[in-house]
Amino acid sequence: CGIVGYIGSREASPILIEGLQRLEYRGYDSAGIALQNGMGLKIRKRAGRVQELAAHVAANPVQGHMGIAHTRWATHGPPTTNNAHPHMDCTGEIAVVHNGIIENADTLRKLLRDRGHTFLTPTDTEVLSHLIEEAEGASLEERVRNALRLVEGAYGIAVISGEYRDRLVVARQGSPVLLGLGEGETFVASDPTAVVEHTRSVVYLEDGDIAVITPEGYRILDGDGADQDRPTDAIDWDIASIELGGYAHFMQKEIFEQPESLRNTLRGRLMRDEGDARLNGLQLTDEEIRSFDRVLILGCGTSWHSALVGRHFIETLAGLPVDVEYASEFRYQRPLPLKNTLAVAVSQSGETADTLEAMKAARERGARVVGVVNAVGSSIAREAHGGIYLHAGPEVGVASTKAFTSQLAALLLLGLHLGRRRSLTVEQGREVVEAMAALPAMIEQTLKLDDELARIALTFSEASNALYLGRGVSFPVALEGALKLKEVSYAHAEGYPAAELKHGPIALIDDDMPVIVVAPADHIFSKVVSNVQEVRARGGQILVITTEGNRDLSAVADREVAVPATHELLSPLLTVVPLQLLAYHIAVLRGCDVDRPRNLAKSVTVE
Ligand code: G6P
Repeated sequence: CGIVGYIGSREASPILIEGLQRLEYRGYDSAGIALQNGMGLKIRKRAGRVQELAAHVAANPVQGHMGIAHTRWATHGPPTTNNAHPHMDCTGEIAVVHNGIIENADTLRKLLRDRGHTFLTPTDTEVLSHLIEEAEGASLEERVRNALRLVEGAYGIAVISGEYRDRLVVARQGSPVLLGLGEGETFVASDPTAVVEHTRSVVYLEDGDIAVITPEGYRILDGDGADQDRPTDAIDWDIASIELGGYAHFMQKEIFEQPESLRNTLRGRLMRDEGDARLNGLQLTDEEIRSFDRVLILGCGTSWHSALVGRHFIETLAGLPVDVEYASEFRYQRPLPLKNTLAVAVSQSGETADTLEAMKAARERGARVVGVVNAVGSSIAREAHGGIYLHAGPEVGVASTKAFTSQLAALLLLGLHLGRRRSLTVEQGREVVEAMAALPAMIEQTLKLDDELARIALTFSEASNALYLGRGVSFPVALEGALKLKEVSYAHAEGYPAAELKHGPIALIDDDMPVIVVAPADHIFSKVVSNVQEVRARGGQILVITTEGNRDLSAVADREVAVPATHELLSPLLTVVPLQLLAYHIAVLRGCDVDRPRNLAKSVTVE
């Protein structure tokens, strides 16, 4: 979900709607705005895309110089117009937009019902607006504060009231809220992309903060009403990086941006002479690094796949055993102590609720927690002891692409940095550094396969199933390739370790089944070839992703595409690119909404 707010001298509704459009990639099944114009609150909401809301507002305009807006990804109640935010109280005096989940919403609703409140929706957010209506207080902020005392759960909220014409109130507990500071106007958003067009000065709220916003500025208060001081940060990327710039889709643009995003991740970090990685943000002393005897990597979705590749990097370069866990599963494990453990939370958005909670759990169990995060200033980045920012720029397409390759690069840097403080020699380090420095140009080279993959996509576009196989570092690449296809084309796809094929999935193979094999020239290549022969013998349309100059695979492959040769460990940064392109082209051929696949959200801030 996404939140936008505005107070100033301009008409609020176009600013709010544009802000929502920028946030749409985060979740988008319904949207709404509420404005205060001195004559009470005016609300407009619509199920569907922000575009539907924009059309509705164009036909039924609302005026006002302050307002709040929301784009929703349903959790409580289906994505109908009625359930869209903002939600009001009984009197129509309070309007609330909310990201997150109110865990005790049912209890609170019952309590409010007993006091005569009637509810129009099953949403937890509506409960909040009624609570604020009920709450005592001499000002809107005091009423919000008193209401929030009763609330359990995670929220980022923005509130306006018909009674208070000069202010809007926001609060944060577990779900991001930031303020954008303009000249005589102030913005509110859950994500800086919604405000960057208007201002580069932002203030990130912290958990427990309640802020009162006026056109002239803001005040941040804690739960007891005491003033809080929060730093003003500068946004260091520009609007062009979140616009399409000639590409048909953000996914396509972001795939093609990878040489650049990777350069940005590596910039200033490769130490060629020392064969080392400069990672000052990690905030770990050499002594601390030597005290670790284990690494634990946590993530969800694509970030979990990066973690699986990262395991190979860190085990190989740093000689440390690595465990990889789904953040959502890790949270509910037995809380056994994690001594001498470095936990690494991997997240593009830095806002995934499961990952955020998992890192807190890891810390409570005794681990030192660092983040590998793209979104600067995000919750995970701030919660971590230190970390590595990806600097890949905003990722808009729901299916993660450039963040994946940058995550791999960051985990490689981490492996190198840990390794050089343990047993990796300068020479071994240099070899990796040199190979990494060459990667952006190699990705550029790999992107030239685009036309070929568009042709291959034609032959696969009708299939409703696909198998992706790989071994070693290429197994997680197979998982990621399958995930890309599922996400954007709605074809069912599975990633499997190539050798596991014979233990089950081989039963699925027939002449119509596309089988995509990630088989770069590495030490297990010949084993993978034998696995592919098993497929060959049973039909299957085989596409092999291998290394340029690798020996002829035509005996086993129907089609073959080759990526440049690199250090064995680094091949995932190249082999994943054709799989991204393949998924993209298949989705386009199938007429799918590539950037906004059904049911998915860019960042999932609920558990
Ligand atoms: C959502 C997105 C995925 C993403 C996952 C983790 O499910 O749809 O593309 O991989 O969240 O997101 P994160 O921001 O933590 O990397």
